[in-house]
Amino acid sequence: MTSQQTFSTSSSDFSRPDFGPDFVWGTATAAYQIEGAVDRDGRGPSIWDTFSHQKGKIKTGEHGDIACEFYDRYESDLHLHKQLGFNAFRFSLSWSRILPDGLGPNQGGRINEAGLAFYDRLIDHCLSLSITPWITLYHWDLPQALETKGGWPNRKIVDWFADYVDVCTKAFGHKVKHWIILNEPIASSILGYFTGQHAPGRRSFRNLLPAIHHTALAQAEGGRVVRRNVPDAQVGTTFSCSPIDPFTPRDQAAATRVDALMNRLFIEPTLGMGYPTTELPFLAGIAKKVAKPGDMERLAFDFDFIGLQHYFRAVVEQSYFMPYIWAKDVSPLRRNVQTITEMGWEVYPESMYRIIRQFGQYESVKKIYITESGAAFYDTVEQGQVTDTARVEYHQNYLQNVLRAKREGLPVEGYFAWTFLDNFEWAEGYRPRFGLVYVDFRTQQRIVKASGRWFQQLLVKPFG
Ligand code: GCO
Repeated sequence: MTSQQTFSTSSSDFSRPDFGPDFVWGTATAAYQIEGAVDRDGRGPSIWDTFSHQKGKIKTGEHGDIACEFYDRYESDLHLHKQLGFNAFRFSLSWSRILPDGLGPNQGGRINEAGLAFYDRLIDHCLSLSITPWITLYHWDLPQALETKGGWPNRKIVDWFADYVDVCTKAFGHKVKHWIILNEPIASSILGYFTGQHAPGRRSFRNLLPAIHHTALAQAEGGRVVRRNVPDAQVGTTFSCSPIDPFTPRDQAAATRVDALMNRLFIEPTLGMGYPTTELPFLAGIAKKVAKPGDMERLAFDFDFIGLQHYFRAVVEQSYFMPYIWAKDVSPLRRNVQTITEMGWEVYPESMYRIIRQFGQYESVKKIYITESGAAFYDTVEQGQVTDTARVEYHQNYLQNVLRAKREGLPVEGYFAWTFLDNFEWAEGYRPRFGLVYVDFRTQQRIVKASGRWFQQLLVKPFG
């Protein structure tokens, strides 16, 4: 911790107490992005190991074999996390570290005790620092052995997943009370099985509807298993979401379709509303060809909270070249937007307020947490410091809009910055840096960025 820089929060007009004493302040991360140690202590391979080692899949040719070495460095990393003032840490469990072949004991599989022991140590360390652990059960790293058996398009995955959730909740349910079933199901099903940009890299329409449906079923089924094994748990699941604006007034219908796909596809079945087939007729194929009797009821689950993962707004236009959705993104560059991140995403703080309002409109959404928000900018280390002013402004302005929603009575009760440490950004490799803490991947040195200091000032100072 070297930087002495201080930041004024006066322009943002808020301080920690404005969010209330129970507001959750955390950071979020995912196993494959930080842990490394992919072949240690009996971990089995996941689809991300396979995918990232295939030629041409990751833009930079990198993989998560070492990543942030969090597997070995979690103690010091969590100490730093504590120093920055966060009281919650969201991380995911690696399914194949716990069940190397993917299958739990009910399906003839084997539990890797060393895998459970790692997470047990990690959880205990969080608790010893008074950091509340929030566990994500599935953040995209399906055991490779299950992908070999057909992956998400194979209906058996609903039982495989339920078994895995059973093992995890029996192991940790007595000390972990915040459980997130899935991370952004739209990404793992569509990018994984239709566009092929993410693992396992399959591309076919034939896989798409089964992958979507089984993911949605697993989401509800997982919720039921957590509820059964941990009756006092807070159970949630997360969705990536963005307000969708039409490029011109003529593009309104296109915006409605993209909204149905990006924002409604996975939450509405959960709320008992079914899939949004009116706007997206191709989804009717699920009921016709994929679903079994009783499935539509099984899709519903009464979650205690919904996690929103919000980064940018999208602007779309009608397009005859994009089958099924008949719309395409109008890039920020084409719209002459100057405020974009390394990912090419538009920085548009008001979209945070709008998306909370949109999800808050569902009557049965009881509680909302922002389970991810953050920005990748090009960072440089100068005299041992990273002055990431743009990232400070991002969090400041997005939080301002969280507060606006809260003040209007929307039930938003926490904010998890994506992310604590710079890490492996999936198909992009290590180039985009989202962290509040800079990681030098050659030496594994950590440097708290100005944005980390800004959070520290916001979170620690009000209480001396
Ligand atoms: C996601 C994932 C994270 C990403 C982050 C930045 O939302 O895509 O949950 O793992 O790293 O969102 O893209």
